[in-house]
Amino acid sequence: MANAPLRVLVTGAAGQIGYAIVPMIARGVMLGPDQPVILHMLDIEPAAEALNGVKMEMIDAAFPLLKGVIATTDVVEACMGVNVAVMVGGFPRKEGMERKDVMSKNVSIYKAQASALEKHAAADCKVLVVANPANTNALILKEFAPSIPEKNITCLTRLDHNRALGQISERLDVPVSDVKNVIIWGNHSSTQYPDVNHATVTTSGREKPVRELVADDQWLNTEFITTVQQRGAAIIKARKMSSALSAAGAACDHIRDWVLGTPKGTWVSMGVYSDGSYGIQPGLIYSFPVTCEKGNWSIVQGLKIDEFSRAKMDATAKELTEEKSLAYSCLN
Ligand code: NAD
Ligand code: LMR
Repeated sequence: MANAPLRVLVTGAAGQIGYAIVPMIARGVMLGPDQPVILHMLDIEPAAEALNGVKMEMIDAAFPLLKGVIATTDVVEACMGVNVAVMVGGFPRKEGMERKDVMSKNVSIYKAQASALEKHAAADCKVLVVANPANTNALILKEFAPSIPEKNITCLTRLDHNRALGQISERLDVPVSDVKNVIIWGNHSSTQYPDVNHATVTTSGREKPVRELVADDQWLNTEFITTVQQRGAAIIKARKMSSALSAAGAACDHIRDWVLGTPKGTWVSMGVYSDGSYGIQPGLIYSFPVTCEKGNWSIVQGLKIDEFSRAKMDATAKELTEEKSLAYSCLN
């Protein structure tokens, strides 16, 4: 019997990431090639005409998996019965702006949308926050939607994870699909810690540590880290707009692995509610290495953390604590 369609909400659907992600969802990139979908696209009134244009294109593309498309500026209609919510809507960072500059504009949006999701989404709705500051928007959403299980609210750091895989692949001139188990710890910001201490590359059928193959700790401990940390800003500088196709691809990767599971022996990075693992204070949405099975994520336990990593993991946690207070001061 054919699968029943799942309802997928994309907020900010008239924006750049929205335009890149909706065809991916309708082609099965997010939920698999056998899963029909009904798209719910939300944007704000000034973008209503553009949003309707995206709806027309989605109809014209005649995607076989797309069983319906709703384009609306009404948050209640948008959230009604959704199984997956990809929260992209918000005010993007422009060249020269720090992420903190966009904080006050975005946290109030997430507070308002939290209640609509809580009241109208499916009870087991999986939520992915993409809009920046992603971790803190997700935390605000969690705090103002107390009946949504905290395990169902996550933020996107998969883009940073994929960027780290990409940098290692370029450096070693190996296919990116042969690199795995990098980790992004912490905030989706320039304090994030891209960690390769447990990462491997498969060559001639054997997994070898990235540190052994790169054999240049100086590069791994400096330039590699800053390149990944600053990649979002580098793209804004080059494109005069923030990353979109890679962000859309990473959001699909995040939901696909969460729903369908991570491959055996592989972990990915997700911003999730801290349970105190690795000494990270509970009450933050922090990026950890996770594996997923049967629609649930679990933090990978027992990884050895050296002093260098500890300091970087704590620094990004400190920034998240500060962002949390700033977010609350913006809301008051
Ligand atoms: P964009 O400006 O092109 O699109 C944002 C859309 O959101 C616009 O159409 C806007 O009208 C809409 N919007 C604004 N307020 C809204 C609201 N209250 N409800 C619904 N929609 C609303 O921006 P973009 O390039 O698509 O980026 C979207 C967000 O994603 C930004 O915050 C950006 O910083 C962030 N981002 C995050 C990552 C990540 O890895 N986490 C990567 C790239 C971009
Ligand atoms: C990215 O990592 O590309 C974005 O989060 C950058 C930004 O601030 O929009």
